[in-house]
Amino acid sequence: MPRNDIEWTKLGFGFSDVNCHIRYTWKDGAWGEAEFVKDPYITMHIGASCLHYGQECFEGMKAFRQKSGKVVIFRPDENAKRMFRTAVRCVMPPVPEQMFIDACDKVVAANEEFVPPYGTGGSLYLRPLLIGTGPQIGVAPAKEYTFMIMVMPVGAYYKGGLKPVRAVILDDWDRAAPNGMGDVKVGGNYAASLFAHEKAKHDGWPVELYLDAKTHTYVEEFSTSNFLGIKPDGTYVTPDSHSVLPSVTNMSLKQCAADLGWKVECRPVPYEEIKTFAEVAACGTAVVVTPVWEITRGDEVIKISEPDAVGPHLQKLFDTVQGIQYGVVEDVHGWCHEVKL
Ligand code: COI
Repeated sequence: MPRNDIEWTKLGFGFSDVNCHIRYTWKDGAWGEAEFVKDPYITMHIGASCLHYGQECFEGMKAFRQKSGKVVIFRPDENAKRMFRTAVRCVMPPVPEQMFIDACDKVVAANEEFVPPYGTGGSLYLRPLLIGTGPQIGVAPAKEYTFMIMVMPVGAYYKGGLKPVRAVILDDWDRAAPNGMGDVKVGGNYAASLFAHEKAKHDGWPVELYLDAKTHTYVEEFSTSNFLGIKPDGTYVTPDSHSVLPSVTNMSLKQCAADLGWKVECRPVPYEEIKTFAEVAACGTAVVVTPVWEITRGDEVIKISEPDAVGPHLQKLFDTVQGIQYGVVEDVHGWCHEVKL
């Protein structure tokens, strides 16, 4: 049962203490057993490769308490696959898919009382983390790794839930190089965005949008999430680029759009095309579907909608994906993974 000492409807997107996280160590060529750890601090060698050479990757997922009372995790198999690909790219030992899903099940079950009640709009956010913890001072992969999953109850990422935000393009900073690591989920991609992100926020834009690093002519993604645009005829358009993170939410929304009979296009999206979209949104696990009502680049301001207007397509996508997650829209693709409590 959910705890009764948390103000569930007031949750934002921030850290809070829970019962425990789950932790595994890889050494001598194999993963060890699961440990439940109460202490949120971790101790590691000062020469750990994650601290010096960025051997670090993470994931983001959510667990939901459904209307029926079941607790489900949304598509953990897809996050497992993505973390596997990221680990290979960073020369870290991949976490096998079944071990990843078992770890999710165990840590959610151990923190069941922190899964927000149905109807509050909250969820339990899961943050798997894989880091090189063995000392490594010459540039090379470490010999020891730690895989952990921390969890915390969360509400909306941007204040106000499905409230449209303004975005800005800052041409002085890029997120990911064409053959870099934009397509995998490493902390370095977020580090690359922090300076521009803080500048954008300081100047009044909650999120910044990146163009392709080589030519600055194609839309890539937001700092926190993927980009999607809806054409006036209802076509769902999202960038296809090697330096964009394959978002599990975007993948799911594309499927929902196709199921609704909408045309879906995953292809290069020129910056100039933005002004032709009737609706634009940021999409990802944390932000779900966040409408973007205006995009500024230098002196050019592209107004997509009125500041408070949520377009009908974005509303439908939001209602569909959240409906599946909370168990009120049929889960025809089997995306919700039940946690046995
Ligand atoms: C997520 O959506 O889960 C992410 O990891 C993105 C992060 C900016 C919160």
